[in-house]
Amino acid sequence: MKKLKTAIIGLGYIGESHIEAVNRIGGCTLYGVFDANKELAKEKTELYGIPKCYDSIDELLADPEIDVVHNCTPNRLHHEINCRVIKAGKNLFSEKPLCTTYKEAEELISVLKENPKVAAGVNFNYRLNPLVMEMRERIKNGEIGDVRIITGSYLQDWLLYDTDYSWRLDPALSGPSCCTADIGSHWMDSIQFVTGHRITEVMADTDTVIPVRKKPKKANLTFTSEVPDEYEEVEITNEDYCSVMFRTDKGARGVFYASELCAGHGCALSYEINGSKASFGWNQEENNKLWIGRRDEDNSLISRNPNAMTGAARRYTSLAKGHPEGWNDAFKGNMSAFYSYIASEGKTEPVFATLEQAAYIVKLTEAILKSGKEKKWVKV
Ligand SMILES: NC(=O)c1ccc[n+]([C@@H]2O[C@H](COP(=O)([O-])OP(=O)(O)OC[C@H]3O[C@@H](n4cnc5c(N)ncnc54)[C@H](O)[C@@H]3O)[C@@H](O)[C@H]2O)c1
Repeated sequence: MKKLKTAIIGLGYIGESHIEAVNRIGGCTLYGVFDANKELAKEKTELYGIPKCYDSIDELLADPEIDVVHNCTPNRLHHEINCRVIKAGKNLFSEKPLCTTYKEAEELISVLKENPKVAAGVNFNYRLNPLVMEMRERIKNGEIGDVRIITGSYLQDWLLYDTDYSWRLDPALSGPSCCTADIGSHWMDSIQFVTGHRITEVMADTDTVIPVRKKPKKANLTFTSEVPDEYEEVEITNEDYCSVMFRTDKGARGVFYASELCAGHGCALSYEINGSKASFGWNQEENNKLWIGRRDEDNSLISRNPNAMTGAARRYTSLAKGHPEGWNDAFKGNMSAFYSYIASEGKTEPVFATLEQAAYIVKLTEAILKSGKEKKWVKV
């Protein structure tokens, strides 16, 4: 089988995880990189022995060797770069969110339609946690009955103090949303994927809890807790908190909240799904465990065990029981699903997020911001 050649644009926090994942999955070789920060690009090229370090996105896209391009740049650049990648005839694996407005998302979908040979996916990586796949299969098989209530949260703490700063707070780089687009998007994608429901109405409360922050004069690293020596005080408009009540197309109701102001949490994406027969509960920070709640029998807390997993989910776990799989493994699994889809020429199920699915998350984000502003229910 021909090995696909991959290029990565953007080598910051998540770009490094892409490098590691590409190096771990079969079927592709990391061939080239580009980052606006030339020093960083050079450093990663040497560290990982990457054959090519391009001088520009144009040069990267013009290279006929490249089959797949990963876009790991800040959100506001996604639309333009994703468009250029597809138009260059390269397969696209974009970081989430797909882009920052639904209008841009529609444009991307039509550009993809004009380039039918291109495969495109968006990195909603929590889907490929083995026990998330397991819940999805069991819900499909009717184990918890009709899904009625979906609740949960996505909590982090890296914006807790006013000395914490990120481009995610700057509309020019992030678009109009911070926590909803950044982490709420993962929560919504994950529960829609697992339940097969679509959120169709939202009633949100959004807030910028810290309205003035100390922005470092020198660019800082994502998720750093360093206090800057030199800073300027800047007004923040993007939200750092959202809570959302919602209804789904299949009649379920739910509520979730997301914020990066929750001390003690690094990546606490969690949810509980209550069905007409039983419930499931899962938390990313303890991702090898799945809680099953029942009324007339004992509850159980099962551990990931490939031998006991549902057939379709079994495919997405690799280590034997007792060998915990982590965040990086699920990340690799998502990427692997995308590359298998390309290798099968679109014949395998796209379990990674498609452009249409990721566009819907952008639409939901817009609806949440609108609802938060207007303080009323918004139909999506
Ligand atoms: N899937 C996940 O779990 C996950 C986690 C973190 C971040 N992300 C997403 O990844 C993207 C990047 O986030 P991050 O945390 O890595 O940010 P980051 O700031 O750490 O890295 C961004 C990189 O992009 C580079 N860059 C900026 N402008 C560029 C340009 N015009 N051309 C090329 N490179 C450019 C920067 O120099 C930097 O190295 C965001 O869209 C974010 O939402 C996803």
